[in-house]
This record gives sequence, structure tokens and C-alpha cells, in this order.
Amino acid sequence: MNEIIEMFSKIRIIPVVTIHNAEDANPLANALLEGGIPCAEITFRTSAAENVLQILSRRDDILLGAGSVLNTAQAEKAVENGARFIVSPGLNSKVVEYCVDRNIPVIPGTCTPTDFTQALEYGLTVVKFFPAEVMGGIRALKAMSAPFPMLKFIPTGGINPQNVKDYLNLPQVMACGGSWMVKADLLKEKNFEKIRYLVREAVNHL
Ligand code: 3PG
Repeated sequence: MNEIIEMFSKIRIIPVVTIHNAEDANPLANALLEGGIPCAEITFRTSAAENVLQILSRRDDILLGAGSVLNTAQAEKAVENGARFIVSPGLNSKVVEYCVDRNIPVIPGTCTPTDFTQALEYGLTVVKFFPAEVMGGIRALKAMSAPFPMLKFIPTGGINPQNVKDYLNLPQVMACGGSWMVKADLLKEKNFEKIRYLVREAVNHL
């Protein structure tokens, strides 16, 4: 398994970040670190995403990735700007092939046994399970993952402080992703103190 992806089994919680102002990048990274999670998935949902990646890639204290990557052009931009891993909401074979060919760690979104099978075809051993709660949560993940003991999952979508521990206790779950620690309104208010508190609270569930 790729060493970056392996790091998720130690970090265990991946903050999914949608950030609109590049000036918030460093204060946010500081809040994540001080809270106890040295990792951020910066989603390609804002025009600031590339700039934020570029700013944060100058630091060596945070594992930086790009999320919501929908096509190869975004994957290329993400890596150019310092992303060390790529996360997608679904499994786009072009994005996966692009990453696999270049040895870029990629975690595609999957939510059915057909998706899991496709991921295996590309030699992947870790996939995102998305949107986890809406797709049936832990019950669905347990049932669907049973024939795939070789796969590890990163459930994302609807994960919160109440359910994160139950997911992380499953042997097939490597880590969980989620935006609950870095909600849009907290970034808008520049409430880094609250972000730090929510990250710390999440870490206390580990
Ligand atoms: C994602 O991009 O992975 C999801 O939007 C995160 O889901 P959440 O907002 O329910 O945590």
C-alpha cells in the first residue's frame, strides 16, 4: 500500500475543507494541527482551492490532499499545487488511471459492490465509502464489504462526533472523512478557536 495512504490509518480522521479565502489557509492549518489532526482534504469546490493548496504545500507539518476531484484536469492542477493525494466523490476511471499511472495516491468514492470491484481492477486497496450515512451507514458497509476483505474503506458523508467512533471501530474502516469540524459558517466567521475545539473533540473519539 502507498505510504501516504497508509498514513490515514494513523491519522484516522480526514477533515474535508471547503475554503473560499486563501488568507484563511494558514490559520485553518494551525487550528487543525493544534486540535491534533495534521491533515486536510481541500475540496475543488471553490476558486480558492488551488491557491490554498499552493500556500499549504509550503508547510511540511500537514498532509495535504485535494477532494471533490471530478476530472483529470483537476487532478493535474491539484498535484501541481502540492496535493499529495486525490479524493473523488465517485469512481471516474480516467482520474483513477491518471493517478495510478503516475503513482499518485487516489481514493475514489464508491458505494456499491460493483464500484468496489472496479476499484480492485485498478489495484486499489483503499476506497472512500460515500455518502456513507445516506447509503445505509454501518449496516450497509458491513454487508457490502463482506466479500471484499482485501479492501479498506474511508466512510465520508454524514459522519459526525456521535457516529465516528462506531465507524472507526470497524476493522474494514481505515479512517473517516468529514466536514463537521470545518463547517462553512465557522470559516466565514474565522472562528478558528471553534474549529480547533471540534478537531480536538474528534481526536478524543479515537
Ligand atoms: C465530501 O466531500 O466528502 C463530503 O461532502 C463530506 O461529507 P460531510 O459534509 O457530510 O462530512
